[in-house]
Amino acid sequence: MARIISYMNRFVIVAAAASALLACSAQAQIQQVALPYALDALEPEIDNATMNFHYGTHYATYVNNTLAALKNATDSGVRLPVATSNLTALISSIKRLPSPLNTTIRNQGGGAWNHALYFKHLTPPGSPATQSTAISAPLRDAINANFGSVDNMTAALSAAAGKVFGSGWAWLCYTGNSSADLAITTTPNQDNPLMGQLPGAPAVSAAGCTPILGIDVWEHAYYLKHGPKRPAYLESFWKVLNWQQVSKNYDSAVQGLELDLSEAAPRALEAPSKAVSAGSSSSGSAGFGAMAAAAAALLAVV
Ligand SMILES: [Fe+2]
Repeated sequence: MARIISYMNRFVIVAAAASALLACSAQAQIQQVALPYALDALEPEIDNATMNFHYGTHYATYVNNTLAALKNATDSGVRLPVATSNLTALISSIKRLPSPLNTTIRNQGGGAWNHALYFKHLTPPGSPATQSTAISAPLRDAINANFGSVDNMTAALSAAAGKVFGSGWAWLCYTGNSSADLAITTTPNQDNPLMGQLPGAPAVSAAGCTPILGIDVWEHAYYLKHGPKRPAYLESFWKVLNWQQVSKNYDSAVQGLELDLSEAAPRALEAPSKAVSAGSSSSGSAGFGAMAAAAAALLAVV
């Protein structure tokens, strides 16, 4: 089992390195956010195997597919209303994007944005940032004003997350309304409140608001450890939530700033990335091909 986990870790590193290389060759500003903790650091609440697949495969795929779609669009001469390097602007402009790119950005770009928020606001259980005392005064005041207490808010958000049918997300988001600046809402699949109310989608109660806290309730986020017991996953989620990061997200939203979703290459990628740079061509594509082949080989071993 240990050998399998070792191979899995190596595969994640190689796959994520391949993702970073593809990012460099196409849209450098859109990439996987760095994990400010090790893949197994969220144990026992979120297990290493789940993190390997969730961060290393699912999230990487959303980023890669987003980059590939944007590259294909620009190579085809498609003119877009927003910069292809700005993921927040892209998903906020779904209704203005041409078809079929709009569908790809909705699903894959949404997945890239949502997971950036998710992984960035997790932290090892027991760390000071997981304590409610880590909530900033402005955010605490806003939560108290909108929900009465932090406990009321977390209970309401958990309840909303528990009711999402199938795959989707539950959000605490900033509305900008002076009377009620925080709201809880849910979206299906990889939709995001920033996309607004989309045609044919279930009603989003706070469409257009800016997420500051997101709970991924896709089964890939918890099934390996918890099986069908989503409530158990939700209990674990609150034990690894980084309230300091959520507080920063709130500050950014209040100031009208985009959430900082761009990060340097993940720490876990430093060694393989350097190794590839040293031995690959400057184009990046050859290096990506070699890494992809290596990733495929490792996957075959597993
Ligand atoms: Fe996910």
